[in-house]
Amino acid sequence: MDDESVPLWKPSKMIHQGAEATVFSGFWMGEKAILKKRNRRSYRHPDLDRRLTRQRLSVEVRVLKKLHSTKISSPSLFDVDIEEGWIILSEVEGITLYESLLNGKSNIEQIKKFGGLIRHLHELGISHGDLTTHNVIIGEDGELTLIDFGLSKISPEIEHLGLDLQVLHECLNASHYQENNAIEAMIDGYLSNSSDDSTPLGSDVIARFNSIRGRVRYHA
Ligand SMILES: Nc1ncnc2c1ncn2[C@@H]1O[C@H](COP(=O)(O)OP(=O)(O)OP(=O)(O)O)[C@@H](O)[C@H]1O
Ligand SMILES: [Mg+2]
Repeated sequence: MDDESVPLWKPSKMIHQGAEATVFSGFWMGEKAILKKRNRRSYRHPDLDRRLTRQRLSVEVRVLKKLHSTKISSPSLFDVDIEEGWIILSEVEGITLYESLLNGKSNIEQIKKFGGLIRHLHELGISHGDLTTHNVIIGEDGELTLIDFGLSKISPEIEHLGLDLQVLHECLNASHYQENNAIEAMIDGYLSNSSDDSTPLGSDVIARFNSIRGRVRYHA
């Protein structure tokens, strides 16, 4: 790998080749770490591509810093180079919720817990932007850790909060349809973790989610 340019990084292996990023696991100053490098997209104009890369990395960094002092579990930020388009994070032990649901280790109990975690994130004034079951890691002890904040918004509008739930709804329908009542469990977790003095109210976000669902169904 051409990573002479990334300081203090000892690569071991590629673990994910996505549309937007390539992810390696390795070591950073002796600690187990993840290097995420944004891929250059040749179909985009180079200026636009650089701008998008910078935007996504800088929002990811800002969200990770905000979450660091909260109860929400997320990776630690080790290093970043916004211009070069890479970020190094602590490696979270565990498997994705996606895998865990498919191999039967998780069920709707974890989906309900995930719903509560989403509400907690929303009450901190952050939307995730890509809430699929690939972007949450479940540890041996059942702890859920959120990752992948490149499409997040700080101070989101209620529409972004509703869209978070809609993205998860689509993911549950497409990949986890064997889990009965998954969406109800997610909503249950979301509402039962909502405080009465946080705006927008949990019930208002669910109402927005239902109206997005209706719109999507209508246009499908
Ligand atoms: N800190 C971490 N600890 C452990 N595994 C991680 C970590 N960060 C990422 N991964 C693994 O790498 C995968 C991809 O990472 P991430 O979701 O951050 O990239 P991505 O932006 O989704 O890439 P793309 O959108 O191009 O698919 C995750 O689904 C997860 O399996
Ligand atoms: Mg991801």
